[in-house]
Amino acid sequence: MKRLALLLACVTAPVAAQAQDSGAAAWDRIYAVASHPRCTNCHVGASGRPAWDDLGYGASRLHGMNIVAGESRIGAESIPCRACHIGAAGDNAVPHAAPQIDDAWRLPPVDLAWRGKSSAEVCAQLRNPETNDGFDMAELIEHVSTSAFVNYGFTPGVGRNPAPGSAVDLARDIEIWAAAGSPCTSD
Ligand code: HEC
Ligand code: HEC
Repeated sequence: MKRLALLLACVTAPVAAQAQDSGAAAWDRIYAVASHPRCTNCHVGASGRPAWDDLGYGASRLHGMNIVAGESRIGAESIPCRACHIGAAGDNAVPHAAPQIDDAWRLPPVDLAWRGKSSAEVCAQLRNPETNDGFDMAELIEHVSTSAFVNYGFTPGVGRNPAPGSAVDLARDIEIWAAAGSPCTSD
């Protein structure tokens, strides 16, 4: 029996270590997306100021025209996002025109602020439902697979660098990361 336990330990330990490794590698790919300007220009904090990073105005630049989303996150307090960002699918083929998607253009909840944050910070935030707007891993996978916002990040139209990979790759990486126990470099 002891022998069997030892044998099993020998077999399962490398498997567990392998899962850890691929979980960490999957996280690195997730962070490459989550830290990309096509995502972080919206995923900003309580300032409510969306960004125009990596759109040809320099590496770090806030949205022109002094746009502020306010607590509503849709600009209800000032100029609504929809005044320029139409809530219907479009091919975004005109350079520097306001992007449009099949959803009401808006900022995510403050909980989901990623802009300027390190891999360890975003990792800790995203694996904890208390700091990710209440989502478990299955719901995160569902969101990235179906959200018009995420789809936009990978297909932003003419003249804008897309986030690396695809929504399918991202969903698969979250699955690998979750199966490995959602490791973060800070663990
Ligand atoms: C007066 C028009 C106008 C309003 C109102 C407006 N935007 Fe924009 N927005 C634009 C334009 C034009 C661009 C495209 C800039 C470019 O690509 O050079 C843009 C781009 C963006 C981007 C960058 C997208 C990317 O791919 O990086 C974000 C984020 C954004 N807007 C968020 C918002 C939010 C949130 C609101 C409401 C609080 C809002 N905007 C209101 C005109 C507007
Ligand atoms: C135009 C703004 C915008 C852009 C661009 C954007 N998001 Fe979001 N994101 C949101 C909003 C709004 C929510 C809140 C959920 C909702 O209302 O659908 C959200 C929520 C999320 C969530 C949390 C799950 C949830 O449903 O709350 C994840 C994960 C996410 N976004 C990933 C991304 C990734 C990855 C990218 C880039 C490839 C991206 N987002 C680009 C607006 C944006």
